[in-house]
Amino acid sequence: MKKLNIAIIGFGRSGCDIHGAFLRTADNDICNVKYVVEADPNRAAAAREIFGCETLTNYTELFAHKDELDFVTNASYSDLHYPITKDLLAHGFNVLCEKPLCKTPEMVQDLIDTAKANNVLFTIFHQYKFNDYYIQMKRLLKEGVIGDVKLARVSQNAFARRYDWQTLLYRDAGTMRNNAAHYIEQIMDLAESDEMPKITSHMDIWNSVGDAEDYMFARFHYSNGTIYEMEVNPSDAYAADMPLYKVYGTKGTMKVYNAKIVYKYYLDEEVPTPVLDHKSIHNENGTPAYCNNKLVWHEEEVALDADFWNVFTKCTNRFYHAWYETLVNGAELFMKPEHIKAQIAIFNEIERQNPLIYKFEKPSDVI
Ligand SMILES: NC(=O)c1ccc[n+]([C@@H]2O[C@H](COP(=O)([O-])OP(=O)(O)OC[C@H]3O[C@@H](n4cnc5c(N)ncnc54)[C@H](O)[C@@H]3O)[C@@H](O)[C@H]2O)c1
Repeated sequence: MKKLNIAIIGFGRSGCDIHGAFLRTADNDICNVKYVVEADPNRAAAAREIFGCETLTNYTELFAHKDELDFVTNASYSDLHYPITKDLLAHGFNVLCEKPLCKTPEMVQDLIDTAKANNVLFTIFHQYKFNDYYIQMKRLLKEGVIGDVKLARVSQNAFARRYDWQTLLYRDAGTMRNNAAHYIEQIMDLAESDEMPKITSHMDIWNSVGDAEDYMFARFHYSNGTIYEMEVNPSDAYAADMPLYKVYGTKGTMKVYNAKIVYKYYLDEEVPTPVLDHKSIHNENGTPAYCNNKLVWHEEEVALDADFWNVFTKCTNRFYHAWYETLVNGAELFMKPEHIKAQIAIFNEIERQNPLIYKFEKPSDVI
């Protein structure tokens, strides 16, 4: 298989532990890490040791190596995604940019136009649709195993007290763009629509020391009637008890965990069809009765490779292979910028409902 030469910008939790984690496995039969751009000398030394690659301190140094590179992975700080990606596209590089791509739909359009003008491609690293739990859940729901889906609740809770840059508004950080972005992406995919749903939302700072939200709840009401709710809650010491998804359908209910999916359902042919009764209902002995549907329950369990943390390797592997297929064989782009434009419009609506106040400025010794 032809290997693509790549550069990674930023060798932190994402660049090293997610992209780098896949790129250094035996499953990586498609990419050769030629350069890592990293301002921190210790992180740069780690990149040299892991990949035996050359390291640079500023992404603009990549311009001299353009002809050697097939694409650049941009895993820099969130607020730098837009300016760096724009500059790379303008200099003729294909770019795989980490989420969040940028602040506004207009900025996404600017990147789309820049890529088109320079005849290059870019995509956004939303890998969560490649999770096994998500793939299997979506397949089962489409098969109708719990009837018509009316409500799906997703939560990513923990007891968290963050103090890093992901708590800072000037870095385009906060729970919505950092964590919730993955679930909003899954919700848009389950809804199979880039429409703007009716949104009710709440964001707040509960436990973090920064100025960006660490609590977020949003309810998305789609035009087909389905409702999706998502919560990222930093005060949940019992988070381990919670399913990732709980889905309510007309014929049953599904709970989705990292390692399994369970669902309980009834079959039409095994239960009587309820007949509307306008009068009070009574048992045979005349006592007041309650609606008894005589449901015959069935329960199924689907075992999964526990793969929530496999966003670090398995999902990355799948994402990189899909991106490779686009670059090398012209396959349809898996994560399209036009779709991310619709997602960022949703972010902006949630921000409009929950204006947050900038309290911090970037210190002069920070990139
Ligand atoms: N898709 C995912 O699952 C996922 C998970 C984690 C982080 N992310 C995203 O990845 C990005 C990076 O987050 P992180 O947690 O890895 O941060 P981090 O602080 O762990 O690492 C960032 C690294 O990039 C370096 N860096 C940043 N900008 C640079 C620049 N312009 N030039 C040279 N070096 C630079 C920093 O020195 C640091 O080592 C964020 O946008 C975050 O939202 C995505």
